[in-house]
Amino acid sequence: MAAVVLVGAQWGDEGKGKITDFLAERADCVVRYQGGSNAGHTVEVKQEKFMLHLVPSGILYPQTLCVVGNGVVVDMGKLIEELDGLQKRGIDTSNLRISLRAPVVMPYHKKIDELEDRDSNIGTTKRGIGPTYADKINRIGFRIGDLLEEPDIFEARFKAQVAYKNRIINEIYNEEGFDYKALLDKLMSEVAVLKPYLADTSYLIYNCIKEGKKVLFEGAQGTLLDIDHGTYPYVTSSHPIAGGACVGSGIGPTSIGRVLGVAKAYTTRVGEGPFPTELNDEIGQTLRERGAEFGTTTGRPRRCGWLDAVILRYAARVNGLTDLAITKLDVLDSFPVLKICVAYRYKGSLLQEFPDNIGILSKCEPEYMELPGWQQDLSGVTEYEQLPDKAKRYIETIEELSGVKQAIVAVGPKREQTIVTQRLYT
Ligand code: IMP
Repeated sequence: MAAVVLVGAQWGDEGKGKITDFLAERADCVVRYQGGSNAGHTVEVKQEKFMLHLVPSGILYPQTLCVVGNGVVVDMGKLIEELDGLQKRGIDTSNLRISLRAPVVMPYHKKIDELEDRDSNIGTTKRGIGPTYADKINRIGFRIGDLLEEPDIFEARFKAQVAYKNRIINEIYNEEGFDYKALLDKLMSEVAVLKPYLADTSYLIYNCIKEGKKVLFEGAQGTLLDIDHGTYPYVTSSHPIAGGACVGSGIGPTSIGRVLGVAKAYTTRVGEGPFPTELNDEIGQTLRERGAEFGTTTGRPRRCGWLDAVILRYAARVNGLTDLAITKLDVLDSFPVLKICVAYRYKGSLLQEFPDNIGILSKCEPEYMELPGWQQDLSGVTEYEQLPDKAKRYIETIEELSGVKQAIVAVGPKREQTIVTQRLYT
């Protein structure tokens, strides 16, 4: 049984949490492979809402092995808080495993993220994500496993690193730095709490795949936030695309059988950066209100706009999408006319492909096609056949424009409001 990778096909917040949760119920193992506590998944189960940031959605099923892979940057304090919250609500977290190779988000990373974002204006979540990945690539970061073995070696490196970070914080930003000993004590108490969960997770996932178990890789953020393939520099610092699943978990590409792209029936983004179909009008406002488009992690209002098929075609290409999940279709219920962007107009020419230059993207105008809205409440629909013809036409148009068939359509936040037309796990 080959593994399934689930990715966001837009700028994140596509409703991946709900789809992951739906698939997680059928999976033996769910793996997070990138990002950190910048992610926020809301899962609704039997009137109960769960907000997950670092813990994979599979945690709601006691039999599912949940893995935080080596590609995830771990804020240990936040993870402990999240686990405490779940345990208090009766969720068994003993099936969680965290990679010993996962980089640790330090308090100075969060501080530097906040300070740097004042100048760069990316609009980060201030969770220390960029600075932690930067340190990893720069080979001056710390992995969770480093905190467990040979404490004297760790302490010496850590002391030097805190001194270096303090110089940046003091000299460039004129703010107070950190006391290394206090940080060290905090880290050691946190790692002691997490110790039972730490493991060589690549080996665990490898064995699951070898035994024919159902493995689901759960991407956070989305394709256009990918550090290489997104709208750089308005991106996150990891690889949300499907290829990131291999690097961020330590398995080979031959293990991946299907790639499910999750796309909202319209488009949103948080933070700064160009967004060709953005609507700064009443329609955008209606999408925000009906879709409850406010960040799970930061509470920020999301920017909203029409569906962009240029983006979906691009997502299909860079992720190798085999299937599509279309979420929040019900948010479009009230509109008499729906627009889909089919190409971009740039300096008199029509671009069919997503530009790889942020300057060009920021000057692209959307070229729309129009479709009639269904103006009917979809929230109670449970079978594809029950959808009004106009809603089916909207979905089929997305399939044609993206070149990917839909497997799942969501018409509301609850588990029951999920129409499945193709089984991803046999
Ligand atoms: P960072 O990931 O905190 O460094 O933020 C970089 C960019 O990614 C900002 O524009 C954030 O708003 C965006 N971002 C990070 N995580 C998410 C997410 O889970 N959903 C949507 N946008 C995100």
